[in-house]
Amino acid sequence: MAKYIVINGSTRKGNSYAIANFIKEKIDGDVEIFNIKDKEIGFCQADNACKAKDECIVQDDAYDLINDLEECDGAFIITPIFFGRLPGMVDALIDRFYSKFNPAKEMKAPDESKKIGIVFSYGGGEADYTPVAEHVAFEFGVLRFGAHKNVMCSENNDPKGFESKDDQQSQINELISWVCE
Ligand SMILES: Cc1cc2nc3c(=O)[nH]c(=O)nc-3n(C[C@H](O)[C@H](O)[C@H](O)COP(=O)(O)O)c2cc1C
Repeated sequence: MAKYIVINGSTRKGNSYAIANFIKEKIDGDVEIFNIKDKEIGFCQADNACKAKDECIVQDDAYDLINDLEECDGAFIITPIFFGRLPGMVDALIDRFYSKFNPAKEMKAPDESKKIGIVFSYGGGEADYTPVAEHVAFEFGVLRFGAHKNVMCSENNDPKGFESKDDQQSQINELISWVCE
């Protein structure tokens, strides 16, 4: 059975939480939701121990997730935008991808069949957060995700915003079909 991982980067039970559960309900497969707020995620120690040992010395929930992300068939990251960028707790998780980044050794190229769906939930309606999403896609490339699509869920300050927005729900449905095709 295909295995998918959905990362929810929000600390509240709001739109990202609802979108993550919406995705899980729609996928016919093994889906794990990784709620960042419930997880133990240590900072990257930047000690380069991973370059000698080929694995991170911080063995917490991020360690397990990163190994699962390497093995899975596809993934989604659903996160709020804070001050025009990713929230700190999401960046702390992504920094840990460094344990798989080792240009001194032969790194496998990203695999185009391994897809990441990137979803941002935010309060405004005008700003274009595509450059932030493109950077997230680059970071997931370290874990060999070779294709990505972005969905922007704007005007979602209300934690229940997504629940009443048909256009956002249909964009998420299209994203699910693309990641899982
Ligand atoms: C610390 C903080 C910073 C925020 N900065 C932005 C921002 O720069 N642009 C924006 O449109 N919304 C911003 N927001 C609003 C959130 O992105 C918005 O409420 C989002 O939908 C929350 O997602 P959630 O419901 O999944 O928690 C900010 C919210 C917080 C708490």
